[in-house]
Amino acid sequence: MKKCDLQKKPGISCTVNSPYIVRDVDLLFDEDGKRLETKSVMSLCRCGESEKKPYCDNSHTKKGMNMVKSPDRCPDKNKDYRGKDITVHFNLGVCSHNGICLTLKPVFKKGRRPWIMPDLGKKEEIIDIIRKCPSGALSYTIDGVRYQDFDREPAIKIDKCGPFMIEGYIEFKDDQNSCPESKEHYCLCRCGKSKNHPFCDGEHLDKKLF
Ligand code: SF4
Ligand code: FES
Repeated sequence: MKKCDLQKKPGISCTVNSPYIVRDVDLLFDEDGKRLETKSVMSLCRCGESEKKPYCDNSHTKKGMNMVKSPDRCPDKNKDYRGKDITVHFNLGVCSHNGICLTLKPVFKKGRRPWIMPDLGKKEEIIDIIRKCPSGALSYTIDGVRYQDFDREPAIKIDKCGPFMIEGYIEFKDDQNSCPESKEHYCLCRCGKSKNHPFCDGEHLDKKLF
């Protein structure tokens, strides 16, 4: 490894008026998994208006941008769903609603109460689906140990018609003291309409923004 690589600390920062400023992230993938060009420092669009998505083209300067958290956003709070071998934790406040978890039936079922029933599935399958949750909304505890952060290379992936999916411990800083549920992975809004800026809250789905 080159000396300069050892000093790299991938990070993303923003203010309520700025795009995402990304530094030292080499891996950026489009919606189809194709690798995109990166620079050591680059700006990514968060308002949804750029003609050069995912990169910022300064469109936000025309309309102005004030990406503050809305008072009526979902609370940033975990709820526990206990099974005999595993407890699943869910934080609706940061869920990007891409629905991957709902593919593990009947453990996850929309509209049912409780919507997560760990004893209806195998522990290994539940772990596998939680590791696929891009937002950090899902995590789990086994034998008193909480599993929330996984080990992956730093990368930014674009969800189909959805947010930036960040993984690999890319440090996040903004001027609203926003703290991802998992420091290892989280979803950043790129449509500009989330009530929980900078995190995606699934608002893009209702408004069909992409
Ligand atoms: S972000 Fe996670 S919890 Fe939310 S729908 Fe997707 S997989 Fe389920
Ligand atoms: S990209 Fe999901 S709310 Fe903006």
